[in-house]
Amino acid sequence: MSHASPLRLGVLGSGKGSNFCAIADAIAVGSVNAEVALVLTDVAGAGILGHAESRRIPSRFLEPGKFRTKLDEAAEAAYVAALVEARVDLVVLAGFMRILKGEFLRAFEGRVINIHPSLLPSFPGLEAWKQALDYGVKITGCTVHFVDQGIDTGAIIGQRAVPVLDADTAASLHERIQLAERVLYPEVVAALARGEVQSRGRQTRGFMAAPW
Ligand code: GAR
Repeated sequence: MSHASPLRLGVLGSGKGSNFCAIADAIAVGSVNAEVALVLTDVAGAGILGHAESRRIPSRFLEPGKFRTKLDEAAEAAYVAALVEARVDLVVLAGFMRILKGEFLRAFEGRVINIHPSLLPSFPGLEAWKQALDYGVKITGCTVHFVDQGIDTGAIIGQRAVPVLDADTAASLHERIQLAERVLYPEVVAALARGEVQSRGRQTRGFMAAPW
């Protein structure tokens, strides 16, 4: 994925959009050779929409359909169509809380990335920061990975570690992980836009984050 022209991103999010903002801000200051072509959300009124609007980036709510944890077939087709129409090169999941499968991943094979709030393969799934706190690990962090058919199982591109402090609550730990996410995610997108990341099966090369 090497691009002299800016990499066109489609960002999918369900929440407040802090990762989207970090990427959009990094693009705005010229540290990522990309442009956000479209922001889509499955949650009407999600914070990410307001952030996109204030940056004049095309954004819309698209019905997710009848399931709670994934897109239904019609929704999946609508998401793919919107992203194709926006000529998206890379789909960036930024707090998108639905599993993407089949048709979607076939349409963007090897071109969907996600950020997860733990050091995978530890603590996949929901509320990973809480899982880490409950388990009692001393170091957790965040991971950017390619998306495959599993849940948080795709090939890892980059990780950044975050210490767990004695005084941490779930909220304080999540906040510290999110600070790390806002550093890691733009760096990974920048590396992808420069064509520096190669992947072969589970192994990826070409990106190294500062560990902390
Ligand atoms: C982020 O912390 C991200 O890691 C998490 O949702 C949050 C979204 O925040 N994603 C997952 O848990 C996916 N399994 P944001 O809307 O402020 O970017």
